[in-house]
Amino acid sequence: MKSVSAPETALQAGAHFEFAPRMSEIAREAGALLLGYFHRRVKIEYKGDADLVTEADRASEKLILERIRAEWPTHEVIGEEGARIETGGDYRWYVDPLDGTTNFAHSYPVFCVSLGLTFQGKRKAAVLYDPTRDELFAAERGRGAFLNEQKIEVSKTPKLAQSLMATGFPSHKRHKNPNIYFYHQLTLRSHGVRRAGSAALDLASVACGRFDGFWEFNLNAWDTAAGILIVEEAGGKVTGPRGEALEVTDRDVVASNGLIHPELLHEFDEIFHGRGLEPLPDPRGIPEVGAGAARSEIRQGHPAAVPRKR
Ligand code: IPD
Ligand code: CA
Ligand code: CA
Repeated sequence: MKSVSAPETALQAGAHFEFAPRMSEIAREAGALLLGYFHRRVKIEYKGDADLVTEADRASEKLILERIRAEWPTHEVIGEEGARIETGGDYRWYVDPLDGTTNFAHSYPVFCVSLGLTFQGKRKAAVLYDPTRDELFAAERGRGAFLNEQKIEVSKTPKLAQSLMATGFPSHKRHKNPNIYFYHQLTLRSHGVRRAGSAALDLASVACGRFDGFWEFNLNAWDTAAGILIVEEAGGKVTGPRGEALEVTDRDVVASNGLIHPELLHEFDEIFHGRGLEPLPDPRGIPEVGAGAARSEIRQGHPAAVPRKR
């Protein structure tokens, strides 16, 4: 019988984390604060047409900023809700105090705190905390990726056709985003594409094998700095949509288990060149399909409505 070994803990894996332990405490504290606001329901404010923000986003960022300044006073910080600390130092934090604000504002429990730390422009350490599931993802460059202290790895799904994918749509300049075409194509080439509303958690789900791949256009460094490192440290691959290496501030991201990456990039190439595009079905035809069709055919005296002679 095949023996099933328990997953390695961070300690057993010898992952001598330098930053992740304290980062995890901060992320947990911010996550608990978010959860308090979540249960109370908060007022929605608008940064743009459909770009939401709440007092929870701001309170979480304030807490995180205070903790970072107290612990690492020489580090730079960039936070989504306006935090800026410029010290000229080598370390820089990218903070998303609440990734998944739209979900949060609608009481849909899919959101997280995302803390990414870079050193001289390279991703160094990462922590993502999902307070609704009490799931903490952590990674440091060269030291592996962990979910609640257990070592995680990307999936082994070999083919795009057998994969579960994820993507997202930005909340600003929505009418300029062509992702619906990518969504359509990849939906038809895979087991499906999820759009859960937190890019950081989507990346974490690739890292632990729940998703086989993820892509999104026009993200910000605070959405991706932590998630990308966690995917890479879990053995996955992350590039731009043309296979290019990603700098911390690059906005278009394709992440996968590595095995389906060539197929995924091929699909992107085809879509960019307009090749093999499956036409989007015309929704005006919907009443003609299924039961509706039968009804309209009956109304129009379609031959199928005439009872067959026995
Ligand atoms: C958003 C989420 C969403 C993604 C958007 C992001 P926010 O971040 O990650 O999944 O599709 O592009 O802006 O605004 O909730 O922090
Ligand atoms: Ca975000
Ligand atoms: Ca956010």
